[in-house]
Amino acid sequence: MEKYIINGGKALHGEVEISGAKNAAVAIIPAALMVDGVCHIENIPQISDTDMLLTILKELGAKVRFLNKSTIEIDCTHVRYQDAPYDLMRKIRASYYLIGAMLGRFGSAKTTMPGGCNFGVRPIDQHIKGMTALGADVDVKNGFVYADARDGRLHGARIYLDKVSVGATMNIILAAALAQGRTIIENAAREPHIVDLANFLNSMGADVRGAGTDTVKVNGVDRLHGGSYAIIPDQIEAGTYMVAAAATGGEVLIKNVIPRHLECISAKLRETGTIVQEYEDSVLVKGASSLRKVNIKTLPYPGFPTDMQPPMGALMCLANGTSVITEGVYDNRFKYTNELRKMGAEIQVDGRVAVIEGGKRLTGAPVHACDLRAGAAMVIAGMCATGTTVVEDVHYIERGYENFVGKLKALGADIECVDEPDESGSSDKIVCVC
Ligand code: EPU
Repeated sequence: MEKYIINGGKALHGEVEISGAKNAAVAIIPAALMVDGVCHIENIPQISDTDMLLTILKELGAKVRFLNKSTIEIDCTHVRYQDAPYDLMRKIRASYYLIGAMLGRFGSAKTTMPGGCNFGVRPIDQHIKGMTALGADVDVKNGFVYADARDGRLHGARIYLDKVSVGATMNIILAAALAQGRTIIENAAREPHIVDLANFLNSMGADVRGAGTDTVKVNGVDRLHGGSYAIIPDQIEAGTYMVAAAATGGEVLIKNVIPRHLECISAKLRETGTIVQEYEDSVLVKGASSLRKVNIKTLPYPGFPTDMQPPMGALMCLANGTSVITEGVYDNRFKYTNELRKMGAEIQVDGRVAVIEGGKRLTGAPVHACDLRAGAAMVIAGMCATGTTVVEDVHYIERGYENFVGKLKALGADIECVDEPDESGSSDKIVCVC
C-alpha cells in the first residue's frame, strides 16, 4: 500500500505544468467508442481513472495506441456490442458515460451502477430521465443498469434536468449525438469539461451547440468520423497547485492553464491576501506572509467548484480568523475535516456548513485520504505542518493527479511515496469516487 511521507515547512517555488482535465478525459475516452474511425487525442492525463477507462475500451475490442505519454490513438471502428467488463466498471464513477456512449452507438447498454459512496448519496436519476426521454427503456436491477433503445435507435427530445448535473448533461449529450433528430437539454451544467466534450464530438462530425450555457442543443448525426483533438488543462489540478503555493507561502508559476477557468479560485485566493497574476496560459501565485479568512459557497460552474473545497479547507486552517464553507453540491463532503482535526485544526461541521477557526499551528500526524480532493487537502496541510505527516490511501489521489509527488518535489516539497505491504492482504479495493 502506498503512502506519502511529508516533512512540512518547505515553501513551494518554481514552475509546474498542468495536465489534461480529468473530468473531460473520462467522458472523451468513452465518447471515442461512438466514433467510426481513429481518434487522435492529446493531453490525456496519466492517472488511474483514464488508465481504467482505456482498459475497459480495450476489453470491448478497441485498438488503443500511445504515441507518447499523453497522446493516444483510439480506434473503435470494429467494436461490436458486448457487455462492458463489470469488475472494472464498478471501480470508477465515470463508467456511467458508457451508458450514453453505448446507447448512442449500439442502441443498447448494460453497465454496473456507478458508486458514489464518498459524499453522500449520488443518484443517477437525471441520467436515466434523459435516456428514457430519448426513447430508451432503462431498468436498474441487482446493481446493473440495462438500457435499450425501444426501436433500435434513440430519438431527439426536450429534457429539463431537475438538478444541475455535470454527469447527466455529458451523458445525454453523448447519447443524443447519434440519435435521430434534435435534443434540447435545459438547466444543463456549464463546466468547462462540458464544452470540451462538445468540442471533441463536433470535431468528429457531431452537431452540439450551446455547451457552456444552460441550454444545450444536439442535432443528431448518422455517423461520427475520426479526427484529432487536444483536451483542455485541468482546472482543479491547477487550482490545487495555486492553493498549495498560497498555503506554503511560496511562489509558483502554474503553466498550461486557461486563466478564465480559474477566475473563481483566483478571486478567493486574492481575498486571503495571496497575489495571483494572470498571463495568457499561466498564472503566478505568490503567497502572503499572513493569510486572511475567507468564506466560500460551492456551486455549479461558474460558482466556486466543490472539487476545490477540501484544498481550500486546508488553507483556511492557516488563515487568521473564522472562515465558513457552505457546500452547495454534495450532502457530505466534509469527512476530511476529521483528518485535519488530527493535525490540530479547529473545525465545526453542521450538515453542509463547516466553520474553521484558523490561525492554529498544524502538526504532522498519520491521516487518510478519504477521497481524491480530500487527499490533496491532506498533502497541502502536511506541507504546512510542523513535523511529519503520513497520508494513507493515496490511491485515491492517484486517480486524479498526474505525478503529484514528482511535481511537488520539483517545487521543493519534502514528500516521498513509499510502498508498504497492506496488512489486510487485500490489493483489490473497491473505490468509487470522482
Ligand atoms: N445528482 C442527482 N441526480 C443525478 C445526478 C446528480 O441528484 O442524476 C446530484 C448529485 O448527487 C450531486 C449533484 O447532483 O449532489 C451534482 O452531481 P453531478 O452529476 O454534477 O456530479 P457527477 O457527474 O457525479 C462530476 C465529477 C465530480 C464533481 C462533480 C461536480 C466526474 C467523473 N466527476 O461528478 O468530480 O465533483 O461533477 O462538479 O466528472 C472530483 O473530480 O473530485 C469529482 C468528485
